[in-house]
Amino acid sequence: MTRIKAGIINVTGYIGAELARLLAQHPQAELVIVTGRSAAGQKLGDVFPHFAGTDYVIKTEFDSDVDIAFSAMPHKTSIDVIPALLKQDIRVIDVSADFRLKDASEYPRWYGFTHPSPGLLEDAVYGLPELHRDEIASASLLANPGCYSTGAILALAPAVKEGLIYPEVIVDSKSGVSGAGRTLSLIAHYSEANENTCAYSLEGHRHLPEMEQELGILNPELSPSITFVPHLVPMSRGILSTCYARLKVDKLSKGAKAKEELNLLYHEFYKDAAFVRVTGKLPQTKHAWGSNFCFIYPTIDLRTDRLIVISSLDNLVKGGAGQAVQNMNVMFNLPEATGLEALAIYP
Ligand SMILES: NC(=O)c1ccc[n+]([C@@H]2O[C@H](COP(=O)([O-])OP(=O)(O)OC[C@H]3O[C@@H](n4cnc5c(N)ncnc54)[C@H](OP(=O)(O)O)[C@@H]3O)[C@@H](O)[C@H]2O)c1
Repeated sequence: MTRIKAGIINVTGYIGAELARLLAQHPQAELVIVTGRSAAGQKLGDVFPHFAGTDYVIKTEFDSDVDIAFSAMPHKTSIDVIPALLKQDIRVIDVSADFRLKDASEYPRWYGFTHPSPGLLEDAVYGLPELHRDEIASASLLANPGCYSTGAILALAPAVKEGLIYPEVIVDSKSGVSGAGRTLSLIAHYSEANENTCAYSLEGHRHLPEMEQELGILNPELSPSITFVPHLVPMSRGILSTCYARLKVDKLSKGAKAKEELNLLYHEFYKDAAFVRVTGKLPQTKHAWGSNFCFIYPTIDLRTDRLIVISSLDNLVKGGAGQAVQNMNVMFNLPEATGLEALAIYP
């Protein structure tokens, strides 16, 4: 098979750089172009020394012939370049939020702008392979999910699909500071983030509507109403999400047997998922560091009849660039794990 010709728009951000790291090592893809605003004309290895030994030069214009373009721009800017790529029959994976929401009227509320291409929202496929593998295979425009959304949706999907819970759900997530991007911001300064933990976006984080959209599609009768509180913790990568919902007690047996049934349900739901590990050990962010895995631990607080599901992933890999490459593999009919076999880094 000829290798897939891939390009990255905006290699100078964390997700762009992580995409380049994964695509540079992908056995079936050839990274033919990387662009960037601030470092145009420079060698990628000079901007990011961990690319030593590669020859990529950062271009200004995305002007190469590619089979797939990855847009790693901030939201509201991807929209400006993607329609032209689609017109050239280039398949696109957008890691921003610009095509994740199906309902255009949600954009002013959550992102502060009116969507200029609402027609494309219908065509875009939400790129969570564990839920949308068949649509992803034929997608021209793929909206790669948000990092928090990936962890929360994967944690809750089996319980929601099976109607095990009531709609009121709480998602409590902790993220490393790379989730805020490489662009400088006060919250990510060493002296602000180190030895510190804080909650933020209590008025409604932007990943919340994706969670409700996708879980609602999975079970329209249940249509979860989610309270989502993200926290920033002093680490570079990783998201740990703890999700809570009240169980419908008639759906499972009583006592320890209920936990067994829940575990079986989760294992069954993810039996074909290359990167979801339903685990008997409590997930930690380090379990997933640098890998495309998402670890999920479902359990029940028998005293209160509450479902608790904990998930962990690397926000830059399964929460971003790794998931984008996984989607590319599905779109080009490759085994889903191609180029993503690396295990997590430990310690
Ligand atoms: N960080 C994560 O964990 C994560 C996970 C999943 C998805 N995402 C999404 O991925 C995208 C990139 O995130 P990131 O974390 O990589 O951000 P980032 O590190 O802050 O990088 C953003 C990139 O966009 C460029 N840029 C900034 N403003 C721009 C503008 N107005 N027009 C064109 N380019 C602009 C910057 O390039 P120059 O400095 O060279 O101009 C930089 O390369 C975002 O949409 C984000 O929501 C992030």
